[in-house]
Amino acid sequence: MKAPVRVAVTGAAGQIGYSLLFRIAAGEMLGKDQPVILQMLEVPFEKAQAALKGVMMELEDCAFPLLAGMVGTDDPEVAFKDADYALLVGAMPRGPGMERKDLLLKNAEIFTVQGKALNKVASRNVKVLVVGNPANTNAYIAMKSAPDLPARNFTAMLRLDHNRALSQLATKAAVPVADIRKLVVWGNHSPTMYPDYRFATVDGASLKDKINDADWNANTFIPTVGKRGAAIIEARGLSSAASAANAAIDHMRDWALGSNGEWVTMGVPSDGSYGIPEGVIYGFPVVTKDGDYTLVKDVPVDEFSRAAMDKTLAELEEERSGVAHLL
Ligand code: NAD
Ligand code: LMR
Repeated sequence: MKAPVRVAVTGAAGQIGYSLLFRIAAGEMLGKDQPVILQMLEVPFEKAQAALKGVMMELEDCAFPLLAGMVGTDDPEVAFKDADYALLVGAMPRGPGMERKDLLLKNAEIFTVQGKALNKVASRNVKVLVVGNPANTNAYIAMKSAPDLPARNFTAMLRLDHNRALSQLATKAAVPVADIRKLVVWGNHSPTMYPDYRFATVDGASLKDKINDADWNANTFIPTVGKRGAAIIEARGLSSAASAANAAIDHMRDWALGSNGEWVTMGVPSDGSYGIPEGVIYGFPVVTKDGDYTLVKDVPVDEFSRAAMDKTLAELEEERSGVAHLL
């Protein structure tokens, strides 16, 4: 058996937390041979801490063989102490009628504090996934607040968008989701994101040729994926939780254990590729291996794609300037 690793999860008593923690403890994120110590953070209010206690009691009651320890706290420096993985879920969620950028300033402070705490106490190679919205900009704030940690280890979740796009495409083309390769969702986790299947394949053949419907792409597919979060909120009265937790598991599992040469979408700090300014946390196609990721660099960008990629970039730049005074 391997030595246990420390996994910090913030917002641990929230809805995503409830769908996430049990799967991590069951080995679905880091493998069935990897014991974990869960370090869970919640806000200091009595109700949240009581709910966290309840979640920890349930984790205990599962008697997970891989759960090597648990910490529940309201102190980021306790939650992030020596953390190898940090899933930053805790944030204020969007309600009906709100756009993600309404949350920007409310959440900026949280991610400044947490970035600083990670910088101070986490493992020097901690892998950070930001789920809390606005995810890309929150990841940027945390990254900027943690100058002693590798910037490339701060990532934002676009995997839910990637998975949503996969399902829409599989249904349209009547093919199994598992057979679709080389899909990417560029940019911001917001309605401006650009899901792009121009180079996607099914059994080696072009998915775009199979679908062959530019109108469906522009007027149905792209808006459906972009607005899926809002559609879920409208339908459930609450934002997506189980699917978000599932995507977080997919993101971290592939980062830690590898994607077997396949493309996955991760929000990562740009290295300047595709005309995206360095440091902007942007959804890119990546391939993961041995606990690291490599940006896929050679995707051709046509006029339609350039416009879509620039639009989502412009929104990220606007969000970034909205929080610049805090950094
Ligand atoms: P929730 O309200 O059910 O849970 C959030 C939890 O975070 C609450 O228990 C709250 O007390 C806690 N929290 C708030 N501030 C905190 C802080 N500073 N430190 C620690 N904990 C804190 O919300 P949820 O449905 O679990 O969603 C969490 C976040 O994830 C939201 O921002 C939501 O918009 C976002 N989200 C992102 C994606 C994505 O694809 N990136 C998908 C779904 C949801
Ligand atoms: C989602 O995409 O489901 C989440 O980001 C929730 C939201 O605010 O849309």
